Order: sequence, then structure tokens, then C-alpha cells
Amino acid sequence: MNKTILKIHDKEFEPLIFESEINEKIRAIAHQINALEFEELICLSVLNGAYMFTAELCKHLHNLPVISFIKIASYQGMQTSETITELVGIQENLKNKTVLILEDIIDTGNSIDNVYNACIQQGANKVYIATLLYKPDAYKGNAPIQFIGFSIPNSFVVGYGMDYNGLGRNLKDIYVLHTVKFHHVVNG
Ligand code: IMP
Ligand code: MG
Repeated sequence: MNKTILKIHDKEFEPLIFESEINEKIRAIAHQINALEFEELICLSVLNGAYMFTAELCKHLHNLPVISFIKIASYQGMQTSETITELVGIQENLKNKTVLILEDIIDTGNSIDNVYNACIQQGANKVYIATLLYKPDAYKGNAPIQFIGFSIPNSFVVGYGMDYNGLGRNLKDIYVLHTVKFHHVVNG
């Protein structure tokens, strides 16, 4: 099969999920969110990675949510870390509000647990979580995740907001780390 290989820094990536499938899935999630009952919705997007998912999802929401951003950092290169650095905190008053946390990808669940607990501590009435990607084999978190775009294997991805050391966020498709498969060569 002829695959587009993309080089970012020292690594090679191959396509995993195309833009059309991603956008279709996001519309389906928006449809489910539109069916929820709430008075006022605060979308809390986790920067940087969730910016593209947030933009696409919010276009399909029927009401007028408040759209707010927080910024945390946990990843260094391809390694997740247990230390979550909060770079921009929650700016809205969440007391008695319905919050929808928007994440690009949930891996170990460290980041989402932190954000979820912060929302609960601030007195949010109900906290939903929507993530474009989810790595079930890596997840060790406790936060309840209601909306998942795609469950993927435990490998590193880039594109659609996600980066490898700062690059790849603008890609409209999602790419996965290319692994070289060794074929057993039979002589004769
Ligand atoms: P967690 O705290 O281990 O769940 O990691 C969550 C954050 O790390 C995500 O919100 C992403 O920003 C980043 N991350 C996790 N896996 C990947 C990946 O495969 N590619 C790019 N970023 C990732
Ligand atoms: Mg993220």
C-alpha cells in the first residue's frame, strides 16, 4: 500500500485518521451534546492540543456556550509526566454551572483528572468530558469520560492540534508514529 510518510524532527509518521472521518465524528459528538439538558454551558478547552477539536466542535453546538481556555503542560517530547504545570488557570466562575471539558487526547489520564478535579473544586454543578482521542491501554485516571471520538492503540500521534515537540499541530489529518515492520524473508 502506498502510504504518505511524514517526517517531523527525527521521527516518521503515517496517516491514521483522515479529516473527513474526524469531522464526521465531531459532528456526531456535537449532536449528543446538543441533546443534553442544561441552563448554561461552559466549554473549557485544554490548550494547546484541543484548539482544533474545540473550534470544529463548537461550530456545531446549537446554543451559545461560553468558550473558555486553560493551558496545562504535561508532555515532554513523547513522554508523559506526572507533573502537571498550570500555565493559564480557569478564568470563569464555574459555581453551579455545567462544564464541558474539551481535550485532544486522553493518555494516562493525569491531565484530565487534574482539570476535572479543579472544576469540581470550583463548585461546578455537572462536569462532562469530551475527548477526540483516547488511549484505553494507557488510561489510569478516575475522571468519567462521556464523549470519545476514537479509541486508539497506545502509540504516539500528531496532527489535528497535537504536536511532536512543537510541530504538527496544523495537520488536518491525524498521523501515528511509523513503526518499521520486519518481514521474514523466505529464500527460493
Ligand atoms: P495524559 O495526562 O497522560 O492523559 O496526557 C494528556 C496530554 O498529553 C494530552 O492532552 C496531550 O496534550 C498530550 N498527549 C498525550 N498523548 C499524546 C500523543 O500521542 N501525541 C501528542 N500529544 C499527546
Ligand atoms: Mg491536551
